[in-house]
Amino acid sequence: MTLQASLAVDPAFVVGPVRRRTFGSFVEHLGRCVYTGIFDPESATADEDGFRSDVIEMTRELGISTVRYPGGNFVSGYRWEDGIGPVDERPTRLDLAWHSSDPNKVGVDEFMKWSKKSGTEPMMAVNLGTRGVQEALDLLEYCNVKGGTYWSDKRRENGAEEPHDIRMWCLGNEMDGPWQIGAMTADEYGRLAARTASAMRMIDPDLELVACGSSASFMPTFGEWERTVLGHCYEHVDYISAHAYYFEEDGDLASFLASAVNMDHFVESVVAAADQVRAAKKADKRIHISFDEWNVWYQQRAESKPPTGDDWPVGPVLLEDRYNVADAVVVGNLLISLLRHTDRVHAASLAQLVNVIAPIMTEPGGRSWRQTTFHPFAQASQLAKGEVLRVAIDSPTYETKKFGEVPLVDAVATHDAETGEVVVFAVNRSLTDEVTLDVDLRGVADLEIIEATSLSNPDHTWSATADDDSSIVPVPNASATVSDGRLTATMPPVSWNVLRLGGTR
Ligand code: AHR
Repeated sequence: MTLQASLAVDPAFVVGPVRRRTFGSFVEHLGRCVYTGIFDPESATADEDGFRSDVIEMTRELGISTVRYPGGNFVSGYRWEDGIGPVDERPTRLDLAWHSSDPNKVGVDEFMKWSKKSGTEPMMAVNLGTRGVQEALDLLEYCNVKGGTYWSDKRRENGAEEPHDIRMWCLGNEMDGPWQIGAMTADEYGRLAARTASAMRMIDPDLELVACGSSASFMPTFGEWERTVLGHCYEHVDYISAHAYYFEEDGDLASFLASAVNMDHFVESVVAAADQVRAAKKADKRIHISFDEWNVWYQQRAESKPPTGDDWPVGPVLLEDRYNVADAVVVGNLLISLLRHTDRVHAASLAQLVNVIAPIMTEPGGRSWRQTTFHPFAQASQLAKGEVLRVAIDSPTYETKKFGEVPLVDAVATHDAETGEVVVFAVNRSLTDEVTLDVDLRGVADLEIIEATSLSNPDHTWSATADDDSSIVPVPNASATVSDGRLTATMPPVSWNVLRLGGTR
């Protein structure tokens, strides 16, 4: 059956700018993300610093903006000083978070080299689990002070003459999680975040600082944590973090496909908690969201579990989820949700970049390939420009166990006033039916189609492999037409769709 949905695109209805930082990612010392992921001297593609150039190229193709580093849970036990200076003299340490060993072959200076090569902006996290204000200040001095002090001169001795000048800093990671080394109550963490932030600003007042929000919206702490933490550190920070991972549970694909409903609600709840503190403090300033971990993650699968016992491997296979077509549609829909909230979500990080719940996969010393989730991210990152528009969607609905009645179609549009281009990003969440989307191009009626693509497959369980990562890619959608100021396109079931329009002038 073919169903009908409609929406209106009007350049007057602006939510806010498309932010490059919406398209960030995350590199943690976890599993094979760093070792044999971004860094693999044994690989035929390794450059003079041991970085895989194929991974760097794919990072560029994804259009990644910021990269959060070095964790994640890892950061809560990390001594950053282990990762600087002559590589042969660096210690191997236990990584308690992931029951692994870290040889510290990659540290802050190597990561900064990789950032430059990949054209990404670093987003550094400090350890507030086993460490505190002083170690955060030392790392900041090492990274951002020009020279003439103990730590800044150490950086110069280590080959980085110019400061790394890192703007965004995360004050710890998921500090309410019982799994976190040094987990805290909201009051304990809020005070520590305030002390750390205000001291860091004494070195560099213009830093952009991220306080930890609750680890997930299902945590018992969620909501109250945000309120209490921001109650302590509102004046000192710019962002509160949000983390969310989605997966298909008990074969309930219909609910899984509607995961963005949960993300919308999550964002709106964090905004409400932050604004409650704003009201109580009678503050002008608004706190924005750094959605610095989001993705599909099948946490119950065997390969997701850290090793146990006496074995403390370097770079073990961990969290190496293989993504299918439905996962890619959900990732695209989560991007729609993030874009729709561009007024309050000012940064986001797809967790993670390589091998660990990632769009890019590598074989140690061997091939690399793109997962299905690579494509919606790359398209949105490359094509979303200018401003995000609020679109009014009229769509048939379907019933889900988790979220009740949900629209089959979700979409967002962007408008680039400079080029006149309009891009509609849309998903069809129906398991069975095509949906013809009718777009009323108000105010931009003189546009024609530049490209229209769909990512879908009758077998939505299809996953890419090293042997075949090109069978499922976005393909031209021949049904798309523009006539009399209306765009129509038929979207297959379980699909991610991009409709790009440009001027006839
Ligand atoms: O991204 C994987 C892990 O998920 C991170 O280390 C942690 O912050 C979160 O729980």
